[in-house]
Amino acid sequence: MTIAIIGTGYVGLVTGACFAEVGHTVVCVDSDANKVALLQAGGIPIYEPGLEELVKKNVQAGRLSFTQSTAEGIARSQVIFIAVPTPPQPDGSVDMSFIEGVAREIAASLESYRIIVDKSTVPVKTGEKVAETIKRYCRSGIAFDVVSNPEFLREGFAVDDLMKPDRVVVGVSSQRPVAAMKEIYAPFGAPIIVTDTNSAELIKHAANSFLALKISYANALAVICEAAGANVQEVTRGMGLDSRIGPRFLQAGLGFGGSCFPKDLSAFISISAQLGYDFRLLREVQQINADQMVRFVKKIQDTLWVLKDKKIAVLGLAFKQNTDDVRSSPAIDLCKRLIKEGARLRVYDPQGMDKARGLLPEDASTTYVDDMNAVADGCDALVIATEWPQFTELDLERARKTMTTPIFFDGRNLFDPIEMKRLGFIYQSVGR
Ligand code: UGA
Repeated sequence: MTIAIIGTGYVGLVTGACFAEVGHTVVCVDSDANKVALLQAGGIPIYEPGLEELVKKNVQAGRLSFTQSTAEGIARSQVIFIAVPTPPQPDGSVDMSFIEGVAREIAASLESYRIIVDKSTVPVKTGEKVAETIKRYCRSGIAFDVVSNPEFLREGFAVDDLMKPDRVVVGVSSQRPVAAMKEIYAPFGAPIIVTDTNSAELIKHAANSFLALKISYANALAVICEAAGANVQEVTRGMGLDSRIGPRFLQAGLGFGGSCFPKDLSAFISISAQLGYDFRLLREVQQINADQMVRFVKKIQDTLWVLKDKKIAVLGLAFKQNTDDVRSSPAIDLCKRLIKEGARLRVYDPQGMDKARGLLPEDASTTYVDDMNAVADGCDALVIATEWPQFTELDLERARKTMTTPIFFDGRNLFDPIEMKRLGFIYQSVGR
C-alpha cells in the first residue's frame, strides 16, 4: 500500500517506520521544517529503542521518505493517517485544532478517493467531525472514507508494540475501506477488530483509563500495605497470577505520568461529563495518583526534617524507563518539589538529561551528573524516581561510603528492603 502519515511525532514516526518495514511505501509529513530536514539527513528527533536502525534501513530501501508538503503526501498515497497532537486544555478537555487543521488541509488537496485514518487519541465522535469538515472544504463529488485506528504503543517499547500488537482496532462507517486496512495490517499478524468509529475511539480512552486505574489501585494498596506492615509487591504478585487480573500495570511507585495517561484521563472525564456522566471512578484514579507524590515527598521531609540546603541525588528524570521523554514526568515533578523546599539536587538519567534541562531551573539548585555511580557523592539522601532497570546495578558500596548520610528513598521499589538495610542504608520504598 502507499501511505502518508501526517505528523511525525512518536506515534507518526514509529508507525511510518514500521509500515515501511513490512513493505508498504510511506511518506511522513510534518509541518516542522527542522524536523523534516533532520530526518532527511538521517537524524532522529527522539530516543526510541530500535527506531533509528529501522528508519535508516527503510529510507535506504526507498520505502520511507519525509516531506513538509501535505499535498505531496496525499497525491502519493492511497491511505492518509493523521497522527498529530491532541493536547489538553486547561479545563482538561482536548484541543482539537491540529486535527481540524489537518482535516482542512486534506480537503484542500483531495483530488480523488482516499481513506483518511485517524491514529491520534481523540474524543468519541471525532471521526464524524473529521468527515463533516473534509466534506465541507473539499471539491464536491470527491468520495472518501474516515477510519478510526487508535494506537496502543508504549514509549520506550514503541517499535516492539507496533510490530507485535495485541490487537488492531479499525472503526469504520462503511465497508469500503476495510479491505485496505486489513491489507495494511495483515503483515503484523494480530487480530483485527472491525467496529464502528465511535466504539473504536472509545476503546482507546477506555483502555488507557483502565490501565491508569490498575496503577492507582496498586498505589492505594501500597498505602494500606504500609499501614498494615505488608508488602505491596507480594500482594500484587498474588493478585496478578489470577489470569482475570494479570500482573502488568500493578507496580506501585511514584504514580503514572507521561503525555498519555494524565491527559487521556482528564479528556475521558471531560468527554463523559459532556455526555452527561460524572465518571467519579476516574476522578478518584487521578486523585490517588496526585496523593502518591505528596506522600512520597512527605516521607523525605519526615526523614530529613529540613530540606533547605540538603544535597539530594535523584536517579531518573524521564517519565519511565527506556525513553528520553520528560513530559509530565513524576520524576521532574518530584525534583521541582524538592527544589522548592530549598534542596540542592544532583541528577542523572540515562537518556532524559538534555530534555530535563528545559524543565528544571537553570541555576545552582541542580547539578547534572554524567556518571550514575557518582551522583550520590556527598549527598544527604538518594532518591530513585524512574524505573530504569540499570539503576539496580548502582554501585551501592560506593554510594554508602561517599554519601554524607546513607538515606535511600526508592520511589520505584527497585531494591530489596532487607538487603538494603543489611548494606547499611536507611531505606524506604513504597508500600513495603
Ligand atoms: C501508554 C499506554 O500504555 C499505551 O498503550 C498507549 O498507546 C499510550 O499510553 C498512548 O496513549 O499513546 P506510555 O504513556 O508510553 O503508554 O507509557 P506506559 O508504559 O503506559 O507508562 C505510563 C506511566 O505509568 C509511566 O509513568 C510509568 O512509570 C507508570 N507505570 C506504569 C506505573 O507507575 N506502574 C506500572 O505498573 C506501569
